[in-house]
Amino acid sequence: MSALRLHKYLAACGVASRRKAETMIAAGRVQVDGVVVSEMGRLIEPKRQRITCDGREVTPPTNLVYILMNKPKGYVTTTRDPQGRPTVLALLPPMQERLFPVGRLDLDTEGALLFTNDGAFTHRVLHPSFHSEKTYEAVVRGAPDDIALQRLARGLVLDDGPTAPCSVKFLETLPTGRSRIRIILHEGRKRQVKRMFEAVGYPVIALRRTAYGRLRLGDLAVGKYRFLAAAELRKFFL
Ligand code: URA
Repeated sequence: MSALRLHKYLAACGVASRRKAETMIAAGRVQVDGVVVSEMGRLIEPKRQRITCDGREVTPPTNLVYILMNKPKGYVTTTRDPQGRPTVLALLPPMQERLFPVGRLDLDTEGALLFTNDGAFTHRVLHPSFHSEKTYEAVVRGAPDDIALQRLARGLVLDDGPTAPCSVKFLETLPTGRSRIRIILHEGRKRQVKRMFEAVGYPVIALRRTAYGRLRLGDLAVGKYRFLAAAELRKFFL
């Protein structure tokens, strides 16, 4: 690797996302040749300099790993939780590679979550310009009518701006006045599905992501994971 910014190097090595890497740098957890660097945007030359994070040397991963998990409810999608709640990483086997989740699911959301140590892949997939497709099934209170479904599909205004057009399909009516709806987004804003349904008056009771890109959960049980082959990963980009 030739000269690049420190936070990009940390992300490329699978330490954390670029944003999280910036926080780690600001917190003084990163050293270059034995000296703490807490300023943003420092250029480094990985071939000539020794970079450490929390005292561990940071080197580019030689073995790229990709895992698809069916995340259960009750697990936070972070590598550490200050409140001591279980993290999704606790569900993975002990591994030499330092993996991190690609994007997030809420504590009470279930479903498809990717993990990797491939920082370039993560950056690409999470970048808004890539428009990664995410398929959700939401159980909502009530039975949204066509007008509500069209508002969701056309896009509506949330407090952080308008949502992009998306695909929405009524799947079934459930007992006790609930419904199951499929919604496919190409954005990934915080609590987006729940906020969209709230905006049309049908609060989400349960949420599950059934596919990330074209990677479907299939019969992967809740709490289980599987390693992805390169060919499967390529499907993501079709
Ligand atoms: N939208 C939500 O509201 N929650 C999630 O976890 C994912 C998408």
